Amino acid sequence: MALLRLDKYLADMQIGSRSEVKDLVRKGKVRINGLPAAKADMKINTDSDVVYVDGQPVGYVEMEYYILNKPAGVLSAARDKKAQTVLDLIEDKNRKDLFPVGRLDKDTEGLLLITNDGPLSHELLSPKKHVDKVYYARVQGHMAEREVKAFAEGLYIDEEFTALPSKLDILSYDEKSDTSTIHVTVHEGKFHQVKRMFESVNSEVLYLKRLSMGTLQLDESLKPGEYRNLTEDEVMQLKSRT
Ligand code: URA
Repeated sequence: MALLRLDKYLADMQIGSRSEVKDLVRKGKVRINGLPAAKADMKINTDSDVVYVDGQPVGYVEMEYYILNKPAGVLSAARDKKAQTVLDLIEDKNRKDLFPVGRLDKDTEGLLLITNDGPLSHELLSPKKHVDKVYYARVQGHMAEREVKAFAEGLYIDEEFTALPSKLDILSYDEKSDTSTIHVTVHEGKFHQVKRMFESVNSEVLYLKRLSMGTLQLDESLKPGEYRNLTEDEVMQLKSRT
């Protein structure tokens, strides 16, 4: 059970700013348990009080968790003045304080968790927690045992960028285009992590897609741009394994 001020309750649910909510209350448009709300700062029990605005029920959602298959071309940010962001893709969100957990480059696709759960995000991103992230990539050149070994030993790129040991699995090699497909499992999330790792073995990432983060897996039924709520099990597993 949580007790919340009415103006925070409605602002969290994107009904309006706190001052707009005050206005709605003054105009008698907000009803609590069938009666007009007395004041914008009155306390609401989020479990038992029934809130209506303009005749529409407004339930309170404390936490939201979405898994998005991020398409290429969309920014991993909450908002941006010009570019479309991953939050713009979540059309039926309730809360206004959602954010993506970590960033994927604009041209990267795949799993992105979107939530307002700050502590969980911290657990997933903290370098100390070593949460596995698995990527699928198509890269330039013929990846072989030499690269697998280099990745397993950890990579030194320059003073600013080193990579901890990681697991490189080679899936295929196409002689015609001289490209390889791979899975790579990393425990870090530095800027351009995977791209820089391949640069260090004189290759280049041509396509990159994140498949998993900790226990959370991208289901193939989600097409790029599609999303769904996490199941309760998925949320519980993420919280317990990190
Ligand atoms: N590594 C990258 O280089 N880019 C991403 O988007 C994610 C991991």
